[in-house]
Amino acid sequence: MMAKFEPWIPRQFCLRHQTVLNSQAAEVYRLVCRTDFSAPGFCVLNCGSEFTSSQFRQRMLDLTKSLAVIHESTTGNSLGYLSAARFDQQTTTKFHRDGGPEECFLMLGYEPSEVESEIQIADYARCAFDLGISPQNFLTRHNPMFHSGQTLLAPYVTRLSCFAPTDYQIVCINNLAAPFSREQPRWQGTLHTATILSPDDSRRRVINSTMIGPLPLGIAPAISPEQLHGFVVTTEVRRQGYDKRHLSDDQ
Ligand SMILES: [Fe+2]
Repeated sequence: MMAKFEPWIPRQFCLRHQTVLNSQAAEVYRLVCRTDFSAPGFCVLNCGSEFTSSQFRQRMLDLTKSLAVIHESTTGNSLGYLSAARFDQQTTTKFHRDGGPEECFLMLGYEPSEVESEIQIADYARCAFDLGISPQNFLTRHNPMFHSGQTLLAPYVTRLSCFAPTDYQIVCINNLAAPFSREQPRWQGTLHTATILSPDDSRRRVINSTMIGPLPLGIAPAISPEQLHGFVVTTEVRRQGYDKRHLSDDQ
């Protein structure tokens, strides 16, 4: 019998930026790419404020490269990008799983912003396990956009209390929808939500949003190295829910 779910506490998922990338990647992989419920399925990596935006995005790519090495030694498969884009996101969301293949995780690079926000993660895979159903079945039967789903998820929610809007931060979130299995371990996913406490049309809340998934060795990823380079150097920020033609980087 598994112990009752307790929300994760900050020291279990909040990491500080280290220069030794490999040891940090091992911890990120352990926390995010869980195959059971002994780890949160997410983490917050505070990188401080000493980056330029481009350096920060390069840091995200370097971390992914290290995670791919670990994934390869663990499973025999690599990791590849499924998407990479920059958004100004100031729209409050309900708990959701980002669209994409069944097996993937999100690496979200938050740039310093004066727009206050709060992020929460719901362990819907654990909630589904406790109910004796698959995560996909949970989403079908208890849509978290509606009250009944939200009520079921409430005891499984962790607030990312160490999220610091003034710093560059990488938030990794397991986005998987596969059922739990002891025989054939698969990543166990979570749902996420963002509440924008003070939307401000004259300011930005930039998220460098990437989705990453397992990739068999020798198969080309969906996002090419040239596209990834473009992701690192671009100044373009896509709008999401806002139209800011008065801001110079609005494309
Ligand atoms: Fe999302």
